[in-house]
Amino acid sequence: FILVHLLILNLFFSTKIISTSVCRSPLGMSRGQILDEDISASSQWSDSTAAKYGRLDCEEGDGAWCPEIAGEPENINEFLQIDLRSLHFITLVGTQGRHAGGIGNEFAQTYKIKYSRDGSRWISWRNRQGKEVIEGNRNAYDIVLKDLEPPIIARFVRFMPVIDHSMNVCMRVELYGCEWLDGLVSYNSPLGQQMTLNGQYIYLNDSVYDGAMSYSMTEGLGQLTDGMCGLDDFTHSHVYNVWPGYDYVGWTNESFPNGYVEIIFEFDRTRNFTTMKVHCNNMFSQRVKTFQKVVCYFRSESDWEATPISFSPVMDDVNPSARFVTVSLYNHMASAIKCQYYFSDIWMMFSEITFQSGDDPTHKVDDSNTRILIGCLVAIIFILVAIIVIILWRQVWQKMLEKVSRRMLDDELTASLSIQSETFTYNNNSPSSVPSEQESSSTYERIFPLGPDYQEPSCLVRKLPEFSQTSEDTGELQKRVQEGVPHYAEADIVNLQGVTGGNTYAVPALTMDLLSGKDVAVEEFPRKLLTFKEKLGEGQFGEVHLCEAEGMQDFMDEDFSFDVIENQTVLVAVKMLRTDANKNARNDFLKEIKIMSRLKDPNIIRLLAVCMSSDPLCMITEYMENGDLNQFLSRHEPEGMIALLSNAPTVSYSNLHHMATQIASGMKYLSSLNFVHRDLATRNCLVGKNYTIKIADFGMSRNLYSGDYYRIQGRAVLPIRWMSWESILLGKFTTSSDVWAFGVTLWEMLTFCKEQPYSQLSDEQVIENTGEFFRDQRRQIYLPQPPMCPDPVYKLMLSCWHRNTKERPSFQEIHHTLLDCKP
Ligand SMILES: *[C@@H]1O[C@H](CO)[C@@H](O)[C@H](O)[C@H]1NC(C)=O
Ligand SMILES: *[C@@H]1O[C@H](CO)[C@@H](O)[C@H](O)[C@H]1NC(C)=O
Ligand SMILES: *[C@@H]1O[C@H](CO)[C@@H](O)[C@H](O)[C@H]1NC(C)=O
Repeated sequence: FILVHLLILNLFFSTKIISTSVCRSPLGMSRGQILDEDISASSQWSDSTAAKYGRLDCEEGDGAWCPEIAGEPENINEFLQIDLRSLHFITLVGTQGRHAGGIGNEFAQTYKIKYSRDGSRWISWRNRQGKEVIEGNRNAYDIVLKDLEPPIIARFVRFMPVIDHSMNVCMRVELYGCEWLDGLVSYNSPLGQQMTLNGQYIYLNDSVYDGAMSYSMTEGLGQLTDGMCGLDDFTHSHVYNVWPGYDYVGWTNESFPNGYVEIIFEFDRTRNFTTMKVHCNNMFSQRVKTFQKVVCYFRSESDWEATPISFSPVMDDVNPSARFVTVSLYNHMASAIKCQYYFSDIWMMFSEITFQSGDDPTHKVDDSNTRILIGCLVAIIFILVAIIVIILWRQVWQKMLEKVSRRMLDDELTASLSIQSETFTYNNNSPSSVPSEQESSSTYERIFPLGPDYQEPSCLVRKLPEFSQTSEDTGELQKRVQEGVPHYAEADIVNLQGVTGGNTYAVPALTMDLLSGKDVAVEEFPRKLLTFKEKLGEGQFGEVHLCEAEGMQDFMDEDFSFDVIENQTVLVAVKMLRTDANKNARNDFLKEIKIMSRLKDPNIIRLLAVCMSSDPLCMITEYMENGDLNQFLSRHEPEGMIALLSNAPTVSYSNLHHMATQIASGMKYLSSLNFVHRDLATRNCLVGKNYTIKIADFGMSRNLYSGDYYRIQGRAVLPIRWMSWESILLGKFTTSSDVWAFGVTLWEMLTFCKEQPYSQLSDEQVIENTGEFFRDQRRQIYLPQPPMCPDPVYKLMLSCWHRNTKERPSFQEIHHTLLDCKP
């Protein structure tokens, strides 16, 4: 009860100085007090990812705001803007990615904040060390809260995700703070000065001022309104890692022949002022003292009133502690106040100035105080009731309930502690709460997360006539099955799914034996030379990171196609297995290393090294500076009018042709080894300097492309739009089905990856279309000829999609044809 008493006292007697530890209420993104119309954005990916879906913890629409990103990263300025309708003191921000019940995996790893008080002048937020970029989310579900130090006073706030092309970005956000009742919109003051104290410089500038700073400071707010009072000793600061004198703005009388410093305060509207409180340093031993007199002028309309008020505080030469000096303003009505603070010694230093005005805001403050009070009392009553109940219960069922009560109290305690901690993240949707997949023996389901729009398609496949009992074609299928062609059945899916979209190539059992006979010729790489850059993808049992590697040239053979300058870092993709991965996943990982280590071709991504000496096991492969071909092409345009008008970067047809030829060449190499890729697509080709291409295989690991894959039977995840009919219906993956996928890849390239193949068809319709290929009654739909595609190349594509696998060209022939029709 003493506690309750103290709480009440505190609430009633708390000054109106905004304390950053109290002013932390959500401002209404998640709970909807901020209206949809007040949330806007620079762009949206689609209507279902519009600005209004950028609310923290909400799952409406497609689960977040996602900008449409076009152009080069350095020119991108996408933002999500919130209009709070009035000035607010914002102390904390929260961000979250797009999780959408496990379907989404887009989030902003870093972002910046801009704010504005009038909607026209925008200010970039910087922390007290001058850094603009804020560390954001590391996954799509956790909420990450960041304290804004210094806090922001603004009406408009923009969240600006830092975008590169390594992943799509979506955001959900919340602002925390309270209404800014001071009504102060700016103060203009002389620049803070520099003091030399025992050979040490003390910088008394206003380090967080957000207005213009030239001869004086104008139009901004800064340290005098940041809610942080300086320490008694001005050479020290609460703030970590800043220069001495940080907390104060200070001046010396030598620069002010009139003997005073004049500061003008501008307010949002005319107010009835009661008091001004100035937090001053009083370290008189260093010749710093509170002001000896202050003269304030008021302006309510356009002119300064002739009669000022004047106040002289009692000087204190005994107590050197910093203090608030309260100046009565005698209920003057004003929208601006100009105060002249007179020196009483060589130095004068302020850390905070606040104004109290006696009209409606006070009412609001009382109101909110009352609400807080009621909230606290209710909470206290709850706790007391809980304690009483627990005590009573304990008497009845002693032992058991003791445990329960302890747990309850612990929870209370952790909850309240976590709210007070400065920066914390919490898990509102932990990965373990995502419905777990059925156990299956597939590596890739375990290593990589599964993407969106995966309904239950097996029933769809079964709906096709040839898979239903009554179909006349059943006989033929059964015949095929007897001939040893795998039928589309659950048992077979297992062996076709492991490789789909992951980074293993399917290897016929025979080849595998050959491979396993030899030692793996990959060297161990010292893990400490890897520097994490960004995450390319992640899943339950592993992650793929983009890293910089030092000294990698020692691990590359001389026949390496890309030139590495001695001691320069290179970009590498590092796939790592989580330490808690089970034995199956580990074995698959080792198998994959074996396979990868045998592949040496200028157009195939090379395994460079491994880290096997300790967990987590890592596989280091090449990475190319321009990222994957899909993203590369989508941010380029074909040469022509559109590119000219939009000023977009272009890729010429001959370079496109050159890239296609390299893919054919890489595939020729793979097929010569009887390797089946199973997931050839632009997303799996990496682009280096001068349009060099290397085929990789980690498309599936990136959720950016999850829409390209389709789950069958709740288990296998298949890139159905790239798959031959026999792969989808019969589970047959061969070099001929890779040829089919090559045709689709070529089509993607010639459309500059601006749309998904068969974008007008739903996944179900794509599967139905495969049925038409199987029936071959000329009802099947082919991908159309892209506008820039020459006839011979379209003819080549069509030949890749021949129903009869034997009539499709080999990669050797494709490579040859492409060389022949070189532009
Ligand atoms: C204030 O002074 C410090 C120390 O010289 C300097 O690093 C900082 O940039 C200054 N801040 C402003 C806003 O001028
Ligand atoms: C300012 O507020 C005081 C106290 O609330 C009141 O007495 C006074 O009349 C007000 N002044 C004006 C001009 O409204
Ligand atoms: C500054 O203040 C000191 C102490 O009051 C005084 O001795 C000195 O003359 C003042 N300097 C100027 C330029 O007014």
